Amino acid sequence: MASEQNGPHRSWDPTDRRGSWAGDDQRNPLRAQHTHLMEGGRRGKVPFWPTGLDEFQALVEATLSQDERGRNVLAYLCGTAGAGRTAAANRRAFHDHAIIPDVLAGADIRDHQITVLGTPMAAPLMLAPIGGLDMAHPSADVHIAEAAADLGLPWILSPAASVTPEDIQQLVPQGRDRRWFELLFSASDQLNTSLLTRAEKAGFEVLVVNVDTALPGWRPRTLDAAAWPFDRGCGAAAYRSDPHFQALVEDPDDPASVGRAFARLSTDSSRTWHDLTLLRRRWPGRLAVKGILTARDTRNALDCGADCVIVSNHGGRQLDGTLSTLEALPAVVHAARDVPVLLDGGIRSGLDMFIALALGAKAVLVGLPYALGVALDGYDGVHHVLANLLADYDHTMALAGVCSPSQLHPSRLHSRPRSPSLLTTPWPTATRDNPGLIQSRQPRGET
Ligand SMILES: Cc1cc2nc3c(=O)[nH]c(=O)nc-3n(C[C@H](O)[C@H](O)[C@H](O)COP(=O)(O)O)c2cc1C
Repeated sequence: MASEQNGPHRSWDPTDRRGSWAGDDQRNPLRAQHTHLMEGGRRGKVPFWPTGLDEFQALVEATLSQDERGRNVLAYLCGTAGAGRTAAANRRAFHDHAIIPDVLAGADIRDHQITVLGTPMAAPLMLAPIGGLDMAHPSADVHIAEAAADLGLPWILSPAASVTPEDIQQLVPQGRDRRWFELLFSASDQLNTSLLTRAEKAGFEVLVVNVDTALPGWRPRTLDAAAWPFDRGCGAAAYRSDPHFQALVEDPDDPASVGRAFARLSTDSSRTWHDLTLLRRRWPGRLAVKGILTARDTRNALDCGADCVIVSNHGGRQLDGTLSTLEALPAVVHAARDVPVLLDGGIRSGLDMFIALALGAKAVLVGLPYALGVALDGYDGVHHVLANLLADYDHTMALAGVCSPSQLHPSRLHSRPRSPSLLTTPWPTATRDNPGLIQSRQPRGET
């Protein structure tokens, strides 16, 4: 939709990368985007879009804000909770760490491939689950699945997405894609069971249960624009196609009626860890729990049978003023012991990936940047975001003298001290006399 509006930046055809992305450095395929950009430069061509993800976001915002539809898309995509403090904290936390490089380290061949819960990936990067993206682009989820498959990266299908588990089975040939299925804790046990059964039949082997959406977040930007995709006939395809959901919708042809039922059923603030234990018994495959920020909840998730935890605060879209995910990571890694820990929230560069991996994340997930990419230009927008991120990460590793993620460790970082209590001590129990759910950060420089 927006591709015609990019002026002088639109100077070569991005589709020439499709399917032949490996580039000419076969030993280090993640560098392909850099090679591609440099070659364009030699021919006097500048990239279509900025390579830095902050600049890319600014371009997408400027482009989409030119009409009302685009402004509504932005109000949904960029709608953070409250005053946006959690989202800002996610980004800021990366500034507390600097890389300690090794030069002349012989890092000429780098192997970034890892496997998490039986899923191989070209690099420790995954696409976070995102719902409602057909509001931004009619075929958003298909483009995302294809771009992820072309780059060898796994993605997580949100039940709030515009395609069903069965659609994905049809659209992306089995074996080429690497996909996990997400469940929001629905208020209907029948619906939960039905979604699990459908995901299993459609070949999904890993289930992600989201635990940070007891309610939809308080998102002023989205509320002020009434830009909730599910009230506009978008997203929630897994629900809309499910007979248990259909039976609970007053008028399946009325988007507002569907949106109302989705809001009623997709979240449930009465859920407890006991419900996760019951759910675990119904899922035969691997289980990841997304939305963990503390050591205590890590232990709860493991007690319920989780095989992986994802440190996440929903990109700052749920609880405002909570911990940044990077701050939360060390305590979760410590509590998880051998269980893999993933992280999302604020990942915008190869440096961010390096820092999160060095602090113990097995892999990271990215959300908003690729959502903006698909809103701007479908497949090419998503590919642009991910390919740049991968190339930046590969450069960061090479320049730091690191050949593989397994060599990353906190000793690779110079970290400015933060409040140690967040990272090591158990959370105090909140009582009337002890407001234990508030943890104060100490000012910079004080320990
Ligand atoms: C537009 C949008 C929709 C999202 N939808 C979902 C969702 O359906 N399920 C979910 O678990 N997380 C959802 N998330 C959160 C992401 O999965 C992820 O946790 C977050 O985007 C990571 O932070 P980042 O955007 O800074 O990379 C959504 C995020 C965005 C931006």
